[in-house]
Amino acid sequence: MDKILITGAEGYIGKCLFYFLKKKFNVIGIDKKKSLEKKIFYCNILNQKKLALILERERPKIIVHLAAQSLVDDTINIKKYYDNNVLATNTLLKVMKNQNIKKIIFSSTATVYNQSSRLLTEKSKVKPLSSYAKTKLVCENNIKKQKKIKSIILRFFNVCSALNKPIIGASNNPITHFIPTVVYKAIYNKKIYIYGNDYSTPDGTCIRDYIHILDICDVIEKSIKHLNENNKSRIFNIGNNRGLSNKEIINYIKKYINPKINISYVHRRNGDASKLVCSLIKVKSLLKWKPKHSNLKKILNDELNWVKKLKRIGLKRRFKNYL
Ligand SMILES: NC(=O)c1ccc[n+]([C@@H]2O[C@H](COP(=O)([O-])OP(=O)(O)OC[C@H]3O[C@@H](n4cnc5c(N)ncnc54)[C@H](O)[C@@H]3O)[C@@H](O)[C@H]2O)c1
Repeated sequence: MDKILITGAEGYIGKCLFYFLKKKFNVIGIDKKKSLEKKIFYCNILNQKKLALILERERPKIIVHLAAQSLVDDTINIKKYYDNNVLATNTLLKVMKNQNIKKIIFSSTATVYNQSSRLLTEKSKVKPLSSYAKTKLVCENNIKKQKKIKSIILRFFNVCSALNKPIIGASNNPITHFIPTVVYKAIYNKKIYIYGNDYSTPDGTCIRDYIHILDICDVIEKSIKHLNENNKSRIFNIGNNRGLSNKEIINYIKKYINPKINISYVHRRNGDASKLVCSLIKVKSLLKWKPKHSNLKKILNDELNWVKKLKRIGLKRRFKNYL
């Protein structure tokens, strides 16, 4: 059985992926956050010596590199993005090269693109605006430069919701993503802020492409298989190929979760694109993958299950107040 190493295995996607892949692969992880799971090692990737010792001992065949400063917030010091994204990725690549580990899957982001009213393909113009997206694009380029390492770069759109068995979802604090924010606030009757209702979209609110975490785990598994069988470097956009506006999501929540949710429309945030929706033509044809779990009903039901679990175990979500 191939050994897979997940970096950032204590984060939202990493933790879900760890439990998803565990059924089929020999999976280990590393994270700079301490874990209760004994196969997730406590290690900051910037600590090259410690990282090298772990990789030398464990000898993974493929690395799924998810670790990052992932919160998109330009009030965060740029150095945090540079260190945990660019420097950490460079350190990882260096250790991989030294130890002859030849395959990496890298989690990039749709925010590397310029906004577009058309579906975004892998050839769409890149124009990252935030420090987060800029550093992710630098990582992509540094990975592509590697001669001895084959890579699959996955540009994720809006990853959301939770796994069912076991029930695991996002436990990051503060939480900044739309779906976990609105579901949690709908349950706790807290005010939901919608940033902008004057965009050039049919209902005036931003349109995004939401992809269920189960589909993300599935496409990473397909990427592992593809790297093993084809040994070719690739870039893919990963989304649901369908845009949902903030208002559409709110209307669904009003209908099925809480008719009395408290909404306040406030001014736009700097750098928010009106519409980001993904084309899946390339990934469908080369990876033979398409999303199966990313309809809004399943996304919200599974997130709701997770929020109920958070409530049972007494975990509260905090929110970043942009107002
Ligand atoms: N969640 C999304 O919607 C989304 C969308 C696009 C791309 N991505 C990318 O997917 C990846 C995972 O996202 P996530 O939502 O799980 O993020 P997350 O913030 O929940 O998890 C990231 C994890 O990486 C760890 N980490 C950061 N720097 C580290 C370092 N130097 N050494 C070791 N560990 C380190 C953190 O402790 C954290 O547990 C990230 O690279 C993110 O940029 C996520």
